[in-house]
Amino acid sequence: MSRQLLEAHYRPNWGLAELNNFRAFNCGYERNAADTFDRHQQSLVWQLLGDTPITESSVVLDVGCGIGGPAGWIAERNHPRRVIGLEYCDFNIRNAHKVWSSSPASPDFIQGDAHKLPLQSASVDVILNLESALHYRNKPAFLAECRRVLKPDGWLCLGDITSRSAKSFNVASAVLRSEIFLFSLAQYEAAFRDAGFKLTRHEDASLPVSRSLDAGLEQMKKFSFREKWGTHGRCGFLRLLEILFRRGWLSYDLFGARPVS
Ligand SMILES: C[S@@+](CC[C@H](N)C(=O)[O-])C[C@H]1O[C@@H](n2cnc3c(N)ncnc32)[C@H](O)[C@@H]1O
Repeated sequence: MSRQLLEAHYRPNWGLAELNNFRAFNCGYERNAADTFDRHQQSLVWQLLGDTPITESSVVLDVGCGIGGPAGWIAERNHPRRVIGLEYCDFNIRNAHKVWSSSPASPDFIQGDAHKLPLQSASVDVILNLESALHYRNKPAFLAECRRVLKPDGWLCLGDITSRSAKSFNVASAVLRSEIFLFSLAQYEAAFRDAGFKLTRHEDASLPVSRSLDAGLEQMKKFSFREKWGTHGRCGFLRLLEILFRRGWLSYDLFGARPVS
């Protein structure tokens, strides 16, 4: 996906984030129905990390970090040695700086492409990759890069939208109208194996994710998002995603994987 296309795709998301004080671009995970959407977005990060150990000596890499919510929350909660937020789109990095510059735990935000990580081999303890790989043309190349930069005892936590069938993929492509390259669950399982990872956890999170989107859209309605160009359309896009998850056309899968020694 070109940077211009990505930027055009994420401008309305930034409009919604500014209006609502959101700090992430993910769909969220409903653990508690009374929570705000910002809290659902944080819950998705904690659900994906599970019991992955993040200590004061850890280096954590968030690939496709958007405006930095997940990276910032990990920095604030776990105080690891370093959190790197890597993002392809300059526009999102500039906004990540805006959102996190006043936080004492601000991550390091760098520009880069998931297909060619600008990091040394065996230098990272934990990789987080949340709702970003759907944009990657070559997911096996990305997973090979994860295998390279992770330490041998490292952890990969990947959450992504997956298609349940070729038909659901075609519907999703038409709905999302931007370059997306969805894998099925089986394709992910094979790709992890081929890249030298063993799966340690898997959760089909489609229902809590769809509930989170539903609640988030209710919350966003309280704001006059119609006044900002593009954000109204983005709410429609999110509603379609919510319906596709709820009806089982698309899935939202959370994976934990570790390098095979
Ligand atoms: C749906 S957003 C999720 C952002 C963040 N993970 C979060 O949870 O808020 C997907 C992000 O992936 C980024 N992205 C897409 N392709 C990328 C690539 N090849 N390398 C790095 N980032 C990429 C997009 O620019 C966007 O910020």
